[in-house]
Amino acid sequence: MTTTDTRSSASESVPPRSRAVLVVDEAVAIGPVNRRLFGSFVEHLGRCVYDGIYEPGHPTADDKGFRADVLELVHELGVTTVRYPGGNFVSGYRWEDGVGPREDRPRRLDLAWHSTETNQVGLHEFAEWLERTGAELMLAVNLGTRGTQEALDLVEYANVRSGTALSQQRIDNGRAEPFDVRMWCLGNEMDGPWQLGHRTAQEYGALAVQVARAIRQLDPRVELIVCGSSNAEMPSFGTWERTVLEHAYDEVDYISCHVYYEEKDGDLASFLASGSAMDSFIEEIVATIDSVKAARRSDRQINISFDEWNVWYNTRFENEERITDIDNWPEAPRLLEDSYSVADAVVVGGLLISLLKHADRVTAASLAQLVNVIAPIMTEPGGPAWRQTTFFPFADASRLARGTALRPRLSSPEHSTADHGTVASIDSVAVLSEDGDAIHVFAVNRNPDSSIDLEIDLRDLHPDTGTARAHLLHADDPYAKNTLERPERVTPKATSLIFEDTRAIVALPAVSWTVVTIPLLL
Ligand code: AHR
Repeated sequence: MTTTDTRSSASESVPPRSRAVLVVDEAVAIGPVNRRLFGSFVEHLGRCVYDGIYEPGHPTADDKGFRADVLELVHELGVTTVRYPGGNFVSGYRWEDGVGPREDRPRRLDLAWHSTETNQVGLHEFAEWLERTGAELMLAVNLGTRGTQEALDLVEYANVRSGTALSQQRIDNGRAEPFDVRMWCLGNEMDGPWQLGHRTAQEYGALAVQVARAIRQLDPRVELIVCGSSNAEMPSFGTWERTVLEHAYDEVDYISCHVYYEEKDGDLASFLASGSAMDSFIEEIVATIDSVKAARRSDRQINISFDEWNVWYNTRFENEERITDIDNWPEAPRLLEDSYSVADAVVVGGLLISLLKHADRVTAASLAQLVNVIAPIMTEPGGPAWRQTTFFPFADASRLARGTALRPRLSSPEHSTADHGTVASIDSVAVLSEDGDAIHVFAVNRNPDSSIDLEIDLRDLHPDTGTARAHLLHADDPYAKNTLERPERVTPKATSLIFEDTRAIVALPAVSWTVVTIPLLL
């Protein structure tokens, strides 16, 4: 039995093995859930932009070539920010190539993904698309092949209203108002040897602090994100963050975290418990941030921008034969087009729960990515767009996790895993709505074999038992997927909820994601 909060009183009865108990206590808050937690990521990679969000000639394309069917799904998904234009792509990108008359834009080699970048979509088109979604633009600057001056030029072009050469260029290119971008990533994954312009932590820290100071001198309103490690397996994980923050602590607002999980060697139990690894990852980075803070006797708090996270079958990608020919640079090739199962969706749900459990320190995040490339939304050129299984937990969390995340007081049966040791079979978090008129509980059953009841103990709250409801994502086959041929094979279904006084009980089948909404009588 795992108890995730030691404040549970000793007199609480031990639930039977097949039951987990979540005590919901509004007095024990983690903190407000920042809407930026439900961000996503669009990179010029594969078919994310071209044949993804943008496909002139598609039956649903609007006057600018954006697919209306994709826009509708992006709305439904509820993304709040979108990081752009990369990823590894940004480390070789010249932003100037993507502005001005389209017919004059150069075709360039994209070394990161061995593709041709046509530059038919650039800052103006992307910002215009994003305005249709209502999400906030988060830009990354190229610190791979470029440096301070090019970053400053982009900030001036994007954010200065008028009266300078670059702001005038933006106006001449059809955009009178500034883009007013607040969130800026200082490069991408600069610790990775695969990254153009890869640097040591010392080198990157020294560069990041210079670029950060310069950008702030131009626009003090910006929020700056310095690169953390590319993943927790990097040999420099931890020391990278410490070194970079020792340079840049006073100049930045966030440090980034990136992580991708996949099922390896058929070990479903370990894969389903990936949220435990994410919990540790976040806690280790928070400890590193705060140790630098303490050493500097600083009052400044740095938070985490978890700006790449998802399930990604990266091993499969690494083992695929890749085009490397100097005379073959395809446009928008099919790359990283993972097709997601129910098990993958349950892992994504577990990762969302992990982000919510750390809402006090993870105040921005981006599901990587949005369309076609390791994405919740898939498209077929000239054909339909559909929701992958992973779409559903994200859409649920973005729609309902508004308000205050409550610290989970959770007792759960356990099971063992090869990679994470013994883990709680149920993971869960509750969010109190902004108006205080409802509790939303998000839960995963990450046990591959056993169904478990979740008892939600509402203690002193007054549930409106007549209107409480629950739905779940589950299939008898945990590997069931939505595909072009069967786009609605897996969809959420309503499930029953029974009340015993102020305790709500819901059955969580093995490998499932469940959301319970309990309106409160005020
Ligand atoms: O999201 C795919 C790639 O993963 C990104 O380009 C890179 O930043 C990360 O390694």
